[in-house]
Amino acid sequence: MGQKKPKGLEAFESFYKEIYGDRWEALRGALCAKKKISALLNPYSKEKTSGDILWDGVLEAVSFERPSGTPSNYYLLDAASILCARALKAGPEHKVLDMCAAPGGKSLAIQFNRIEGELVSNELSRDRRTRLRRVLDEYIPKELQENIRVTGFDATTWCLHEKEAFDRILLDAPCSSERHLLETPEKLVDWKGGRSKRLSKLQYSLLASASQVLRPGGRLVYSTCSISPLENDKVVERLFKKKPEGLKLVKEKLLLGEETEYGTLILPDQSGWGPLYISIIEKH
Ligand SMILES: C[S@@+](CC[C@H](N)C(=O)[O-])C[C@H]1O[C@@H](n2cnc3c(N)ncnc32)[C@H](O)[C@@H]1O
Repeated sequence: MGQKKPKGLEAFESFYKEIYGDRWEALRGALCAKKKISALLNPYSKEKTSGDILWDGVLEAVSFERPSGTPSNYYLLDAASILCARALKAGPEHKVLDMCAAPGGKSLAIQFNRIEGELVSNELSRDRRTRLRRVLDEYIPKELQENIRVTGFDATTWCLHEKEAFDRILLDAPCSSERHLLETPEKLVDWKGGRSKRLSKLQYSLLASASQVLRPGGRLVYSTCSISPLENDKVVERLFKKKPEGLKLVKEKLLLGEETEYGTLILPDQSGWGPLYISIIEKH
């Protein structure tokens, strides 16, 4: 009889301790600490919002205290997510696909940065899609909404229906989301080491699909909020091991994070922002 595989908090701890070694204690502490949040300013709003400026169009909303102004003047999210959306370098001339878009923070960050342009925000879950629609309706003016389409496809099979169709694709993939797991211990009760591996298979299917839906000359950003390398570098590595024609890894220094083999990892024990993994791919 085979030995039973460990599960629960203990298995979770030993999985990440093995990856991060001595750093795990500090990283775990940062993941459990109160989340830092930033306010992405709504460029369509005429009302003024004041607060500490983090970057252009972004305020630092210190420990959940909202900046002044009405809520639709700004959208609260992790600053790392804003960097991720901006890494797409989407201009008004680009046709953009946000493949896994709900609740919509990154779709907003893409539109706020370019003011207008064609966007398809896709989300498989019906409930989450309703929330996505609500967010887009609330923040984007009516006259610009005709350029925005919300769809509900399984993005793993998008490439079977459409190839080389978008100039910019954001794939913010479903992931282990360890910060969320640590915040809700009941979700850790059944945690097993195979969970991250299983998710990495879905992430790879999504990335392989996205890479085919991208137009030559286009840019694809793959991201997750996982700290597991299986869901980050390993997914991108698997794509490049297949020597996909025309795809090139782009190494760009972002305002936050540490360089990994295939991208950038923003971890909260360093800057307080994240976690977020970002990998940039272009097609030639
Ligand atoms: C990390 S969340 C996206 C967060 C979002 N980008 C944001 O910034 O607000 C991943 C999303 O992917 C959706 N999803 C999972 N599998 C999918 C699939 N096969 N096709 C499309 N969406 C999927 C999940 O329902 C979830 O809402």
